[in-house]
Parts: sequence; C-alpha cells; structure tokens
Amino acid sequence: MASHIQADAMVFFGATGDLAHKKTFAALQALVRRGVLQVPIIAVAKSGMTLDQLKARARDGIEKFGGGVDEKAFKTMCGLLRYVDGDYADPQTFANVRKELGASACPLHYLAIPPVLFGPVSSHLGTSGCAAGARVVVEKPFGRNRKTATELNQLLHAVFDESAIFRIDHYLGKEAVQNTLYFRFANTILEPLWNRTHVRQIQITMAESFGVEGRGSFYDETGTLRDVIQNHLMQVLGFLCMEAPNWDDTERTRDEQVKLFRAIRTLQPTDIVRGQFRGYLQEPGVHPESTTETYAAIRLQIDNWRWSGVPIYLRAGKHMPLSATEVRVEFHRPPPVVFHEPFPPSHNFLRLQINPRIEIGINAQVKVDGERMIGEQVELLAIDQQSDEMSPYERLLGDALRGDGTLFARQDSVDECWRIVDNVLGATVPAYEYELGTWGPEAANDWLLPPGGWHSPKVSPK
Ligand code: BG6
Repeated sequence: MASHIQADAMVFFGATGDLAHKKTFAALQALVRRGVLQVPIIAVAKSGMTLDQLKARARDGIEKFGGGVDEKAFKTMCGLLRYVDGDYADPQTFANVRKELGASACPLHYLAIPPVLFGPVSSHLGTSGCAAGARVVVEKPFGRNRKTATELNQLLHAVFDESAIFRIDHYLGKEAVQNTLYFRFANTILEPLWNRTHVRQIQITMAESFGVEGRGSFYDETGTLRDVIQNHLMQVLGFLCMEAPNWDDTERTRDEQVKLFRAIRTLQPTDIVRGQFRGYLQEPGVHPESTTETYAAIRLQIDNWRWSGVPIYLRAGKHMPLSATEVRVEFHRPPPVVFHEPFPPSHNFLRLQINPRIEIGINAQVKVDGERMIGEQVELLAIDQQSDEMSPYERLLGDALRGDGTLFARQDSVDECWRIVDNVLGATVPAYEYELGTWGPEAANDWLLPPGGWHSPKVSPK
C-alpha cells in the first residue's frame, strides 16, 4: 500500500496541454512556494518543445491564469523540472521516463491527458517499470457511463492497486465544499434539524454565465449531466447529506460517502429536464444536429432514515444569468397560528455559496420595527470570504504527493454516481431550447418544479 508516503518524484503527463497551462503549473508553483513540492518534476508531452520552451509556456500560463509569477518559487520549480518529449503510444517514451526517475521509489504520475489515453498510458507505465511503488492521479471525466468507468477501472487496476489511484474531482479540493462538511459536524446546532422531519427540500444550483468557450467538441461528447452533475454536484451532495465520517481515516470517510450514494434512487426520465442554449448548434466543434444538453435539472430521492421523502433538486447550466454555485437547504415553515401576517412568513433556510464567494448564511424571520407583528427575512452570515486561498489543484496535488486520498473519489463512489444517472444519459428526454442569459428552458418549470419554485443564487457585489 503506497499511501501516506511522500512521493519522491512527480511525472506530469500532458505538460503542454490546456489544463497544464491554465491550472497545473500555477498549482506547482504554489506547492513549491509552500515547500510541499521539492522533488523532481518530469514533464511529459508530445510537442517537440525544448525544456526552455516549456518553462516559457509555464510562465505564460501562470502570468495569464495563475495569479502571477513568484520569481523565487518559479525559479525553484524550473530547477526541479525535466522534460521528456515523446508519443504516448511509444514504449521508448516510457523508457525515457524510467531513466529520468533514476532511484525514485515512490513516484506520483499525474495524467492530465485525454481520457482515451488513461488506459494505454497506465499500461505502458506498468510494462516500463515506472509503476513500481507509484501512485497515479487521474483527471476527469472518469468514463462516459457506468460501463466505461468499470472498464477504465479494470485497465488501471491491472497496473495500480485501488489505494494508489487518485481520481480528481476538483470540487472536493474547494475550500467551500470542505467547509460544508466542517460546518455540519463541528457544530451542534444543525444536527437536530438535518433530517426529513425539519428539511423541506434541498436545491443545488451551478450556474455559469458563459458558454462552451472553444471546448465545443469536448462538450458535445459530454453534456451537462456528465460534465458537472454526475461528479461535482454529487460530491457536494455527498458532503451535505452523508453521516458523520471519521475524518482522520481516509477509507471511513469515503465509506460514508459511498453509503449515501448507494441510498440514492436511480434516476428515471421523469426526474430530469434537459435544455440547450440557443446558438449552441453553431458553436465550433458541435454537431449541427446535436441533442447534447447545456442545461440539466434533476430530482433525486435518498432512501435512508435521515432523508427519506425529502426532494433534492440539482441543476446546472451554461449561459445562465450569472456564475454562481449555491446550496440551499430549506426548512419547514412554522404553522401560521401565532402571527397572521398578510403573507405567510418565509421558510428558514441555510445557504452555502461555493462560487464565486465562500458564504454560509442562515436565513431567519425577524420583526419589523413598529406596532404590527410582521416580519422580514434577514441573513445571519457565518462565513463571507472572497475565494479559496489555496486553489483546488494546489490542495489536491499536495494531498496526492503526500499520499492522502481522502479528497479523491474512490472506485465504488464513482460507480454509484454513474449508476444514479446511467438511465438518463443522452437523449432520453428532449433538450428544450432556452435563451441566453436565462435560467434554462421554461419547460423545466412545468415538469420538474421544486416546491415553491427554484431559488436562484445572487452574487453579492462586494
Ligand atoms: C469543469 C467543467 O470540470 O468544471 C467545466 O468541465 C466547468 O465545464 C468547470 O466550467 C467549473 O469549475 P469551477 O471550479 O469554475 O466551478
């Protein structure tokens, strides 16, 4: 078992790709700055670049997308960087990686490459001797459905033990998502209310004000359900609804997550609405008759003691009115027997904003000044922060270097999340067109309307 041993080298496949340019090098610079990354970084790609050209590309990416170059940390990172140029189908590439690894006994292989290459690269790592004592970090998407995820697991397991496989879901690396779990279990005030007796419904919205942004062909193969709901939003739901884990024990924490996922009912076509923004078919890389969704809303039911009967709604979409990811846990209303206000008082709810700010607020009704017993909603804000101090990639790659898999998806939880959505992937229901800058197709409201309607996040102007 390779866990909790510090990696002594990092091999970074896909080092000239988009993810590397926008996120990974910035995360590596930050890890170097914190002193967490001090081992050789062997970058691998097929680009024909020299090491100096790769360094220049890394600098460009950090400047444009990574919050700026820290000259000292960048220089140290460049001192650790090696480069192997080669084809992922060529055994010689892996022989060269093996040579660069030298006496390394516990390398971390990070596969920031297209998913079709996960299997072949992992098998070459095995035959070349690069996998001995190693761990592997695999990017999303992990499979296209339950069957392909199982096949991918088999390919990886032929080379790596499950404890050495780290499946990335960058939402688990977000401070706000971890805060969900922390806030629930580090306080006693929520627990008595956190169940079917008191919770009326849960809504999670992930809205993005932009479209597919040059990723047309990837997105057209993927769609919203696979891109962000099966993984990111399900992981958020996991932390929100699971039973108390033992945080010090990676496997016990992941056991609780998977127990929750197992209790979620398999979706039926009546549990989903799909939408496609107007103009999607003209996006470069998109098939002119594509039925891929750019918006999806689902209704989930959890068949366990705590949550039975509480409807849970998840929705995500591109070209929405704003960009924000927010959870709303709504409680039952007090009976209107004491105060007969003109309108019944609103529901109490807990609001957790994950993006763009980190906010946790409890909404309550208070009396308005004056002689009448009527009220208004106020929010008691527990956290209100700009954004993560540490990027999710910095957090997760640091954990993987240390061998801590708590914030990575285990095989059984990925399998369960696919099981939940497998039935409704693709064109099982029509994708209704919606206008840019709206909250998805109107049809969503006829078909799948939460009690009291959808509550859309607002972004505070701070
Ligand atoms: C990615 C999806 O996994 O997550 C993108 O492929 C999406 O389509 C992105 O925009 C959202 O991540 P974040 O961290 O910006 O909310």
